Amino acid sequence: MNSPVRERADHHRTAREPVGGVGRAHAKAILLGEHTVVHGTPAIAFPLPTLSVRAIARPGTAGAATVLPEGHFGFLAGDPESGRHTLSGPRVAVEEALRRWGLTDRIVDVVVECDIPLARGLGSSAACAGAAVRATADLFGRTVDPVTLYELVQVGEQIAHGRASGIDASAVLAQGPIRFHGGTATALDIGLDAVLVIADTGVPGSTQHAVAGVRQVLERDPGAARRTLARADELIDAAVHDLSAGHAAALGKSMLAFQELLSELGVSTTHIDTLVTAALDAGAYGAKLTGAGLGGCVLALTEPAEAASVSAALRRAGAAQTWTVPTRGMRADAGSPTPSTPERGADR
Ligand code: MEV
Repeated sequence: MNSPVRERADHHRTAREPVGGVGRAHAKAILLGEHTVVHGTPAIAFPLPTLSVRAIARPGTAGAATVLPEGHFGFLAGDPESGRHTLSGPRVAVEEALRRWGLTDRIVDVVVECDIPLARGLGSSAACAGAAVRATADLFGRTVDPVTLYELVQVGEQIAHGRASGIDASAVLAQGPIRFHGGTATALDIGLDAVLVIADTGVPGSTQHAVAGVRQVLERDPGAARRTLARADELIDAAVHDLSAGHAAALGKSMLAFQELLSELGVSTTHIDTLVTAALDAGAYGAKLTGAGLGGCVLALTEPAEAASVSAALRRAGAAQTWTVPTRGMRADAGSPTPSTPERGADR
């Protein structure tokens, strides 16, 4: 990808580094717990470092944003008159950072190169916000501590999701798999030798719309809602144990049970159901939607030896693209912005 920024050399940067601040973040996938996490259950997520975002922040001028190269996004933070607000959550996050740092008189021109497909449940909005805040901090020579970074990304996420649990903000900044509960991320111990195959339906989903729909379903019948959330809790607890103990078949069953629960909450689609069935027919242990649903991505769990055939089956069934993530290489290191302690699911 062509960089839209000029290069400079000084004692802080090498000759190949761009003028301005630079920040990075990456995609995430939720293994279990999307939606119910908004209503108080835990959830499990892992980072996808191969799908990354790079943001470049430079001093901006009112009404004069950088012309965006093809495939880039951007915004002028701190310029209420700017028409270029292609990323509203990240802009709000950067403006909140400027407010906290006493820099409300500054305008920042942020350009974002994002490898993460947008609106597919892979955390693009949180990752763009995280990278943009890091780039802005770099531009002004600020050190942003992990808790503040998480809080700033969350300010943007409340715009993107309507009501955001914080799992996306946490997972796009984390270095390893996490169990997230009530705003706190815990590093997960992974003893599983399997592969997660992520399949993109190619259909963008609206997280805000999906979150609002689930709230309506839960509010309609409080007794059923309590049972759903209790069931989600059980499945997530079991999954923490299975991830640590290496029980792929049991984890696959929990994923399928969670997919049923998400269907009942109204966020699956026929396209998602078709991909789930294709993954199971190709030998996956389990499969489910990941993220907010109503489009977005499907996540399947397979034996390492089956990953290529499950990916191929998903593409034949209509997936626009697939990615594979071996669980073996995952580090039990949350590197998380929220308080984090090691957890061993096998000890439960
Ligand atoms: C979206 O990736 C996850 C949701 O649970 C929303 C949230 O937790 O903020 C659907």
